[in-house]
Amino acid sequence: MITDDLREKLLTHDQAHLLQELERLNDADRAQLLNDLARIDLAELRALHGKREHKDALPERHRIEPLPRPAAEEPHREFKEQIGNDAIERSEIAYLVVAGGQGTRLGFDHPKGMFPIGPLSKRSLFQIHAEKILALRRRCGARLPLLVMTSPATDAETRLYFRRKNFFRLPPQDVWFFCQGTMPAVDLTTGRLLLEGPGRLCLSPNGHGGTITGLLGSGLLDRLTDQGVHTIYYFQVDNPLVNLADFLFIGRHVEARAEVSSKVLPKTSPLEKVGNFLMVDGRCSMIEYSDLPEGWANETDDAGNLRFWAGNPAIHLLDVEFLRKIAGEAERLPWHLARKIVPYVNETGQVIKPDAENALKFERFIFDILPQAERWTIHATDRAAEFAPVKNKEGVDSPQTARAMMCADAARLLGQLGVEVPAGIKVEISPLFTLDNNRTIPPITKHTYLREPKD
Ligand code: UTP
Repeated sequence: MITDDLREKLLTHDQAHLLQELERLNDADRAQLLNDLARIDLAELRALHGKREHKDALPERHRIEPLPRPAAEEPHREFKEQIGNDAIERSEIAYLVVAGGQGTRLGFDHPKGMFPIGPLSKRSLFQIHAEKILALRRRCGARLPLLVMTSPATDAETRLYFRRKNFFRLPPQDVWFFCQGTMPAVDLTTGRLLLEGPGRLCLSPNGHGGTITGLLGSGLLDRLTDQGVHTIYYFQVDNPLVNLADFLFIGRHVEARAEVSSKVLPKTSPLEKVGNFLMVDGRCSMIEYSDLPEGWANETDDAGNLRFWAGNPAIHLLDVEFLRKIAGEAERLPWHLARKIVPYVNETGQVIKPDAENALKFERFIFDILPQAERWTIHATDRAAEFAPVKNKEGVDSPQTARAMMCADAARLLGQLGVEVPAGIKVEISPLFTLDNNRTIPPITKHTYLREPKD
C-alpha cells in the first residue's frame, strides 16, 4: 500500500518517478520496492547528492603530521614473533576477507574471489587464501575461523563455490559467511533513485566499511568473542600475495594492546594511487590519493624523502572489543561518493546502457575507523612480497602483473632456500607447501609448480 506518508516523502525528496513506478507494479514487485524504500533514508541521499561537486573538507595542514618511519631494525623481534605465534596457537586470531565488491574494473563474470589467478595452477584467489589458512592451522594446531564478507552481488555464488570446492578442506563450521548491506545508486544530475528493472532499485554494496555493521548485524562479533578470538586479520580478496602468517605483525599488535594495526607500503611516487596513512591531531588517519593535495603529496623532508610516504595495502588487525566499542558509531562513518556508469531502466521501461558516468554510488571505507583507535601500530612491509592487487583487466594492477609478482616472489623464496631459479622460468608455490616444516625442494624444471605435500 502506498501510504500518504510515503507519497509525501517521495514528493518532498524529488522521487516522484517512484510513485508512478509503484502504481504500475504487480503486488509482489510493489511489496519488494516498498520494502526497499522503507530502509532508505531519502533525506540523507539528497544531502549526499548535493555534495557531488565538492571534495570532502580536509583537515588544515597544521593538524597533519607524516607517519613516523619505523626503525630499520625491529627491537626484540624474536620475542614479538613468539607472541604472534602464541596468539595463533591459542586460536585468538580470525581471518576476514572482504569479497563483496562488484569488481567492475576486472570485468569478470563471477565474484572476484573465483578468479583463477595461480600462474601455473590456476588456483582461484579464494583457494589461495583458504589454503594459506589451512597451512597455518596445520602448522599451529589452531582453529582460525575464516570470515568471508559477501554482498548481495556475490553472496549466493560465493557460498556455492566454497561448497562445490569442499571449503578447500577447511572445516565448513570454521568458514563463516556474512553479507554486507547496500546503498542505492542515484542519477548523477537529478539525484533520483535508479531502477534496474520493474520495482528493483539499483543497489550496490555499501563499501568495505560495511564490514563493521555487517559483523555486528550477523552476530559474528559475539560468536568471535564466545570462541575466544581477540583479533581479526582483515584483508582484501584481490591480493594473492597477502601474508597471513605474519607472526611479527600480530605480535607487535598484541604486545602494544593495539586497537588497530595496519601494514603500510613505502610509496613509489608522490601521486601513487594508494591511500595515504598520516596523522591528524595525533591520531593515525588516512587520506585518499584523490583527496591529497598535490603540494602536500610532493613535500619532502631534509633528506629528500617523501613526507607522506606511507601507502595503504589494506591489511589490518582489528581488535574485537574495539569493533564492539565503535559499532554503535559505524552508522556515522562518512559516505564517499563515486561517479560510475550504471545501466538502468528509464520511465518508459527501456534499458539504458550509458557510455559515460551517469550515476553516483556511495561507499563507506574501513579505514575511516582508524582515528577512533587510541592505540595502534603500523608495520612497514615490502610491496614485492606482499601486495599484488588484481584490479584491472589489463595493464597496471591486472592479473598479468599479479601473476608476474607471484612468480617473482616464489623465485625469491626458493632463492632464500638455496635454490636458484633461472630467469624466464615460471615458478609457483602452493600455499600448503610454503608453511610446511618438512618441505624438500624438487628440481626446478621449465615451469614448476611446487605442490602441497601429500596428506
Ligand atoms: P575495490 O574498492 O577495489 O572494489 O575493493 P572492487 O569491487 O574489487 O572493484 P571495482 O572498484 O568495482 O573495480 C577492494 C576490496 O574491498 C572489497 C572488494 O571485494 C575487494 O576485496 N569490497 C569493496 C567489499 O567487500 N565491499 C564493497 O562494498 C566494496
